[in-house]
Amino acid sequence: MPIIVNEENKEFHLFNKQISYIFRVMDNNQLEHLYFGKVLHHRKGFLNLVEREPRPLTSNLYEGNQTLSLEHIKQEYPSYGTTDFRMPAFSIESESGSRITDFKYKSYRIFSGKKALKELPSTYVEDENEADTLEIKLYDNVLNCELILSYTIYEDYAAICRNARYINLGNNKIEITSAMSTSLDLPDDDYEMLHLAGAWSRERHIKIRKLQPGIQSIYSARGASSANHNPFLALKRPYTTENMGEVYGFSLVYSGNFLGQVEVDSYGVSRVTLGINPFNFRWVLESSEEFQTPEAVTVFSDCGLNGMSQTFHKLYRTRLARGYWRDRVRPILINNWEATYFDFNEEKIINIAKTAKELGIELFVLDDGWFGKRNDDTSSLGDWFVNKNKLSDGIEGLSKKINNIGIKFGLWFEPEMVSKDSHIFNEHSDWVIHDPNRNMSHGRNQYVLDFSNKQVVDYIYNLMCKTIESSSISYIKWDMNRNITEAYSSFLNSNQQGELMHRYILGVYNLYDRLTTKFPEILFESCAAGGGRFDPGMLYYAPQAWTSDDTDAVERLKIQYGTSMVYPISSMGSHVSAVPNHQVGRITSIDTRANVAYFGTFGYELDLNKLSDEEKEDVKKQVEFFKEHRDLIQKGDFYRLMSPFEGNDTCWIIVSKGKEKAIVGYYSVLSRPNDRYHRIKLTGLQSDKLYMVEPKGTTHYGDELMIIGIILSEDYSGRHEDFYKKHPNDYSSRVFTIKEVKEE
Ligand code: DGJ
Repeated sequence: MPIIVNEENKEFHLFNKQISYIFRVMDNNQLEHLYFGKVLHHRKGFLNLVEREPRPLTSNLYEGNQTLSLEHIKQEYPSYGTTDFRMPAFSIESESGSRITDFKYKSYRIFSGKKALKELPSTYVEDENEADTLEIKLYDNVLNCELILSYTIYEDYAAICRNARYINLGNNKIEITSAMSTSLDLPDDDYEMLHLAGAWSRERHIKIRKLQPGIQSIYSARGASSANHNPFLALKRPYTTENMGEVYGFSLVYSGNFLGQVEVDSYGVSRVTLGINPFNFRWVLESSEEFQTPEAVTVFSDCGLNGMSQTFHKLYRTRLARGYWRDRVRPILINNWEATYFDFNEEKIINIAKTAKELGIELFVLDDGWFGKRNDDTSSLGDWFVNKNKLSDGIEGLSKKINNIGIKFGLWFEPEMVSKDSHIFNEHSDWVIHDPNRNMSHGRNQYVLDFSNKQVVDYIYNLMCKTIESSSISYIKWDMNRNITEAYSSFLNSNQQGELMHRYILGVYNLYDRLTTKFPEILFESCAAGGGRFDPGMLYYAPQAWTSDDTDAVERLKIQYGTSMVYPISSMGSHVSAVPNHQVGRITSIDTRANVAYFGTFGYELDLNKLSDEEKEDVKKQVEFFKEHRDLIQKGDFYRLMSPFEGNDTCWIIVSKGKEKAIVGYYSVLSRPNDRYHRIKLTGLQSDKLYMVEPKGTTHYGDELMIIGIILSEDYSGRHEDFYKKHPNDYSSRVFTIKEVKEE
């Protein structure tokens, strides 16, 4: 049982083989955080971890006591209003207008397994024995409100999953103006904050800054988790590398507005909070109503950033992603977006699909432009019925024709959006998020449907079901191409407007839930103008996501490297596209484009019929190669080896569970004249196993590959002219496969 309670001191110790998490109930029934980190021996009492000193000029809770100042006590779920002046984990306004809260411990309960969160995505168990959950019940007697803090610890993961639930037991309404999912007070500030920032086409770039006194934060106020900041941050020691040192990772299982912040106080305590962004948030909790926060997952690793990422990868791949496709190898797809954009007809599509089949590709995905009268991005979103001018036999006919060619068929939707030039907009303009008294801003000429209104969600659900049921659809790409402005809902009351952004996301989850339940064998890929909503919330419904609209192999190194901080390789859509690349104009070889795209859910996004015969042969070989290795790529342990943010070279490796196989990707952006020798030191292999490294065709023990590395230069003695012919060009890359062999 990984949760032990020291009843006498009311101390709670959650632990497994890797981590310990300890907090206690103080004499005045408030909670004090004591420790989170590497596993500790259990003791009958942890009072030795309590720190108290009289402090000059501080506010103390009780007369005669000089040390009970919450400002100087590490808090478990801090409040504002008494003696802690740091940013709180929540804030509530009572009907009297008072914002002072004081939740006191009431009781606890422990149970095997983990409960699902109402209307929200969360990690889960398949067997009750995989995890234990502790619920702490707190109560504020003035507000007459209960607060349930929930903590789950898995047997096998160095992670604590938390959420909070508020229950209004009184007769009066209360207003929640902030309700974070987690809060952690760490005892010092000798950390660097690592987070993932970017924009369209350069999502999730790694940024690192030293913690400073005051607040450092990341957030979204766009209605989606966003390309600008991902709902994740890590605190690492300055000496922590990819493979060693302490790091804490904080990830929010949520797709809407979020805030992640670290406050370093005047005494060097670092307070991390993560949850729904309190900005513009206000939730009215009527008598006997409940409010549930999203889940936050906190990981600890003392094996560096790779250790942290591997915990997230395994947990999210196997206990957050769900359904038919979770463990199945994903089909290699061809998507027509960059091949045709809006300019296609059935003949063009069939021709691409036929060539795809010849080359071994398994799924054809028809992207934007198949519905209404959509020939550019100015019309028809919401009109989810086929454009017969382009596809005379409809989606029904096309999907069957594609199936007859011998490959599966997938379809693009953008369910949350509407164009002005559409039936929905003309008939139900009040279904669009906007303030009727103000200008309505557009994004890509489109508007956002009010998914806080169940009627709207029902309408879209029924429309989508009609198309899906009448056709042969194996895959759906769910896109979302703009953020929410003029966030006002004609459906909600005036005092509920602060709920809109959260209710919107609940509506999105509701639609996902209904569609994935009704069509369990359809593979969903989430997308938001590329990676604008690449977050754990989406992974619960769609096991893969389009990582970025930027398909350039060089740009993708940074995007995929950054994304891998949290998200498993099995979740990253990555395709080979045409050159010159459509986002940056760069020309890279078809080998390098594939060598990058292999490290994700592999596919193509170009007109295969425009390739030369030689290139088609290359594609055929790539498809065969990926099929041979995709199980390893999807399920193996991923290690980052060289960072594109630190130099010219990038390298990563995926190692099978039993360490008998591995695949390495090595990329060099610019070629170097008269350069030094290069070696790649591998990680994760078994020292005493003998491995064959291909295409080198040489054998090496695991220790040699990890301590000395793969030697990249070849022996050119006596054939130096060869060197210049084979010298790598700009954007060169190599993929090595590694396989255990018997000793001779
Ligand atoms: C944005 C997506 O990221 C693209 O892949 C493509 O589906 C377009 N939208 C279509 O409008």
